Order: sequence, then C-alpha cells, then structure tokens
Amino acid sequence: MKKRILSGMRPTGPLHLGHLVGALSNWVKLQDEYECFYMVADWHALMSEYEDPKDIKNNSLNCVIDWLSVGLDPEKCAIFVQSEVPGHLELSMALACLTPLSWLERCPTYKEQLREITKRDLTTYAFLGYPVLQAADILVYRAQTVPVGIDQSSHLELTREIARKFNSLYGEYFPEPQTLLTESPKLLGIDGRKMSKSYGNFISLSDSADEVNAKVRKMFTDPKKIHKNDKGHPDKCVVCSYYKIFAKDIAEDLPAKCMRGDVGCVECKKKLADILSETLGPVQGKRAALLNDKAAVLDVIKKGREKAMAVASETMRHVRKRIGFYDGTA
Ligand code: TRP
Repeated sequence: MKKRILSGMRPTGPLHLGHLVGALSNWVKLQDEYECFYMVADWHALMSEYEDPKDIKNNSLNCVIDWLSVGLDPEKCAIFVQSEVPGHLELSMALACLTPLSWLERCPTYKEQLREITKRDLTTYAFLGYPVLQAADILVYRAQTVPVGIDQSSHLELTREIARKFNSLYGEYFPEPQTLLTESPKLLGIDGRKMSKSYGNFISLSDSADEVNAKVRKMFTDPKKIHKNDKGHPDKCVVCSYYKIFAKDIAEDLPAKCMRGDVGCVECKKKLADILSETLGPVQGKRAALLNDKAAVLDVIKKGREKAMAVASETMRHVRKRIGFYDGTA
C-alpha cells in the first residue's frame, strides 16, 4: 500500500516562483509514489484575513488552477478545499481539548508572526490555535508524510506531540507524521530576501515575459561589479542563485566566467529572464486553458472533496468511538 501524504497552502494571493520551487515541484514529483491529499487551507487564511475575507474564494480557485497548471494530476491526487470538509474542524476541537496552552504559546512561528505582522491584530483565540488545526488537517487523513518547507518544522513537531498525546489517552490510532523537507534551497526574491508575497519581491506564476524581464532587470547582483568586465562575486548575486535552480548546466561555469569578468550582469539577466519565461510558458498555457474551462476546475474540487470526505469521516467515526461520545445507543 502507498503511504499517504497531506499538504496544504493558504490561499492568500497569487502563487509565485517561490511556491513552485519550494513546494509545488516536490508535490508533483510525489504524486506517483504516494497517495496524495493537497488542500487549500482557507480556514488558515481566514485566521489572518478575517477582517476582509472577500478574496479568499477567488484565491482558492486560483490556487487550484495554479496547482493543475504546474502538473498536479487530479486522477492521482485529491485536490480539495479545507472548509468543505468538516472533519478538519471537528478533529481540531478534539485535539484542542488535549493541547496545553503552553505548547502553543512557545511555538516559534506564533511568536515570530505576532512580532512581524503589525498591520493586523493576530492576538485571537483561533490564531493561537493555528498549529492545532494544522495537526487536525494532517491527522484526519492519518497521513504518514507531510512535504513542507523548513519554516513548517515546528508545526510538524507539534503535530507529532499532539498525536502522541491522543494515542496515550485514547489508545494508539494516529501515525506520527514525518516531515519531508523540500531539497531545494529557499528561492530569493528580486531584492535578495526570501521570496514572499508580503515583501513584494516575487515573480508570479502568471507574470508575462515583459513583467519577468522587468523584474529580473531589477534583481540584486554583486554591488561591486559595475562594468561588464569587472570581476564579480557570484556567491553574492541573486541572479546567479537562480541559475543554480533553473539552469544547472549553465550554473556550472557561469560563476567562473563572472569572477574572471568575462560576462556582464546585463547579459546574465537577459538570459535568465528568457529561461524563466520558458519555464512559465507552458504553465501559463495550461492556466489559460483552465480559465476557459472553469467547470473542469470545479469538478476537480468536487471530486477531491469526495475523496477527502471519505477518509475524514472514517477517522472521525473512530475518534468519536475512542473518546466515547454518545453514539445513538443506550
Ligand atoms: N501552515 C501551512 C503554510 O503556511 C499551510 C498548511 C495548513 C499546511 N495546513 C497544513 C501545510 C497541513 C501542511 C500540512 O504553509
């Protein structure tokens, strides 16, 4: 039997190259080897967007469209929307009952977000419980494996602790899910920080060739390399880091050329923009086709929901029984 995977993304805006390199390309690779459940985490989006949630629906649809465009195959994996499967919230409540507040308060991502995100009030009951719902997302499918970026490690650690506590209180039931880290390093944004929507430094999967060109032209390079023939320091160059990910063959001798002053940044950038546009071309072609066939997209989400519901309701039957709730008998 194939092992089961669950992973998810919050529908908070258009997907960018960072999502592709950091998660999606991995998701696509895993579809043959595992039984995959890929979820649009709209409840998790609401935790930060609750004051103005009007874009969540559209972002959810676009998320699925992007997933299909990069090659997720709905025949091989269940693609669904979290809020359509009530088991997530039900299990989340059961897990909340046994999760000590201190586990949540000391979670590093919680502390960091409260510190970093000042435009929104995140001092809510639900936001503190973010990792409990994430644990429920994973455990409701009894997933053994969770492919995520390194930033999610503390949530996975909490998920295992919560699963252990459930198992010790109510009997062994949940497997302890393992983190499957993406091999690829973090993709840098055009300004050299981590690529992120909130930094406004991203290249979106739907950017046109002209937009890609303009963004690559703005990319940070070695500040000491001003003229084409200056000797550069490719280890400090965002453009060079992209070659290592998107054009490994070129990346083999490009750094040496740059260090000798045999290649200039303008040329390097032009070529990179072409490579990125070539990568995005087929994705955008598929995306345009799906935008013209929304019914097909809705159908994918409906089928995904059915697959997800089947497993989640089965889990909830067991959970209720183990807890010992009223079951219609005396
Ligand atoms: N917290 C994840 C993120 O921000 C999204 C997410 C929600 C998730 N539920 C999940 C990821 C379950 C993996 C498994 O990226």
